[in-house]
Amino acid sequence: MNLADTEIVLGILQNKGFDKTDSANDADVVLLNTCSIRENAEQRIYGRLGNYKNLKGSKPDLIVGILGCMAERLRKNLVEKKSIVDLVVGPDEYRRLPELIDLAYNGDKGIGVKLSKTETYDDIIPHREDGLQAWLSVMRGCDKFCTFCVVPFTRGRERSRSLLSTLHEVKQLSVRGFKEITLLGQNVNSYRDGENDFADLLAACAEVDRSIRIRFTTSHPQDLSDKLLLTIAEHPNLCNYIHLPVQSGSDRILELMNRTYTIDHYQNLIEKARKIIPGVSFSTDIIAGFPTETYEDHVMTLDIMRKVRYDGAYMFKYSPREGTKAYRMKDEVSEETKSKRLHEIIDLQQLISYEKNQELLGTEEIVLVEGLSRKSEKFYAGRTDTNKVVIFPKQNEIVKGSYVKVKLNKATHATLFGDFLDSADISTKNLALTA
Ligand code: 5AD
Ligand code: SF4
Repeated sequence: MNLADTEIVLGILQNKGFDKTDSANDADVVLLNTCSIRENAEQRIYGRLGNYKNLKGSKPDLIVGILGCMAERLRKNLVEKKSIVDLVVGPDEYRRLPELIDLAYNGDKGIGVKLSKTETYDDIIPHREDGLQAWLSVMRGCDKFCTFCVVPFTRGRERSRSLLSTLHEVKQLSVRGFKEITLLGQNVNSYRDGENDFADLLAACAEVDRSIRIRFTTSHPQDLSDKLLLTIAEHPNLCNYIHLPVQSGSDRILELMNRTYTIDHYQNLIEKARKIIPGVSFSTDIIAGFPTETYEDHVMTLDIMRKVRYDGAYMFKYSPREGTKAYRMKDEVSEETKSKRLHEIIDLQQLISYEKNQELLGTEEIVLVEGLSRKSEKFYAGRTDTNKVVIFPKQNEIVKGSYVKVKLNKATHATLFGDFLDSADISTKNLALTA
């Protein structure tokens, strides 16, 4: 999401004649786009600010700005606490950046932290480097108010951009040769543009260019509709991959988190999705050590992981965020217990990922070739539509951005390896399923 926002910011600034530099040493303005979701994300920014302090020492005119959630959360406290910060601009005020930079240049502090009910940056053309993969924001904000989460406070209310402007951008990306587009929103299932819901948007995006794979994130288990599942099954280039954060395996904790579903509901949803989209893969988010989490609650989390057998997971220690409901909950789990539980969760997920990847050996996968493998120029790296990395011997006749068929012969928990079979055409990939 921040990457997509940074591209929007670059689009806005380039319109006003700013250029991007590759090094902070060459810059007149340094902007840090920040995340507040966990304490350590903010700590990293304070570390970075320390580095820019030295640079500002040798370049007194340098403007340093904080963008994004941390700007929204800490507002003018940031300029008061950190004298090196000249600009503080929240996620809905990026259009004012040129004006605020001017202010800072004239010696004032530039602060823009209003949240908007309508801003979607629909008409801004983000600045994207050429490549194969693009992020595309289709909605902003979140109305879910999970009790642990700062996002509804830092990114404001849910709002969707128009279907037409989204399709227009997908077309532009197609012309530029992009091959994988990820539609982004904190809760994409709440997308709405008049009569059109997220399934309609996905279907329309898929039809723009059938050689582009479309992904999306994030889905909330309460809102993932049957229509959406059927739409994914129907369109070959809608990836068979759903990121569906579970957060915890305990109904008691889910209720305290205000997640508005039970584990029963969640499991039924997974089963239904697997019936409608054969071979669909799932990833999830898990939080270890939410306030009052007992050992039994933790075991229930391990249990749901074993039942679902996720292909991947993003796993975090609970991090108290000021202003959220959970912040005021008593009975914090000790740091040591959180760490221990998190490690157990990570170990289990690695084992499951490894086992699931072993089950794929001998099968054929269609892989989008992303380029040379990072470890050896003799190999190509690419990705399956279920988002797994595949390494295979480089073929001179195959170029980056094409689809190939690979037969898998080896796997770790994170990577698949295989032999090249043939080039492939993804627009016919799932025809058997749709017939
Ligand atoms: N502590 C730990 N993890 C969090 N997340 C959100 N807020 C917190 C927090 N306070 C995680 C959730 C969410 C993902 C984006 O970040 O798992 O799905
Ligand atoms: Fe945060 Fe919950 Fe909204 Fe996700 S759905 S952004 S976890 S409040």
